[in-house]
Amino acid sequence: MEKIRIETNVFLPMPVVLVGTVAGGRPNIMTAGWASRVNAEPPMIAIGINRAHATAEGIVENGSFSVNVPHAGMVEATDYCGLVSGKNTDKSAVFDLFSGDLDGAPMIRACPLAMECRLVRAVDLPTDYLFIGEIVGAYADADCLVDGKPDMERVNPLTLTMPDNTYRTIGVSVGKAWEIGTHLKKGA
Ligand SMILES: Cc1cc2nc3c(=O)[nH]c(=O)nc-3n(C[C@H](O)[C@H](O)[C@H](O)COP(=O)(O)O)c2cc1C
Repeated sequence: MEKIRIETNVFLPMPVVLVGTVAGGRPNIMTAGWASRVNAEPPMIAIGINRAHATAEGIVENGSFSVNVPHAGMVEATDYCGLVSGKNTDKSAVFDLFSGDLDGAPMIRACPLAMECRLVRAVDLPTDYLFIGEIVGAYADADCLVDGKPDMERVNPLTLTMPDNTYRTIGVSVGKAWEIGTHLKKGA
């Protein structure tokens, strides 16, 4: 297939999460697609947040944030939290919130999976911060657990694709990771 060089503003397929902070003195929830698990031990999560957002100010001020995984049925409220800013709209009542061990990291009761994170590093990028947080508490709905761990088919998370700006669910399994390629190893 011929390769065509395209513009560099390209996106990976993304998870959709809701980032919880306290900003301007009230709980605030923001939608984010730039989120990834990083570092094996201790477990950490990195999120890319534009420095103009209320969320960025809240994380810098409090040194903490939460990462919540909405299920597909929460798509409308999830989109709303990415359309309006806590700087001029009170988003504190969009969801029923709960707290864990950290101040400044409100979590969303309706989300089947929620994590409270202590900020360990804020990397200053030209337009955004890359916030890296250690997961110090994780909370999951009992009916989403298999052997005590979150089962993503049960969580039913959202994904985001760009540039078509479309929410999707996770789709069908095409193989087990760390297993399906085993027979390609030399000598196997
Ligand atoms: C699906 C979706 C994904 C988004 N992902 C991000 C993201 O990863 N980083 C970011 O800075 N803004 C992202 N945004 C934009 C913010 O959510 C949006 O600007 C929001 O209003 C900021 O809220 P705040 O000012 O209350 O923090 C996203 C918006 C949507 C709808």
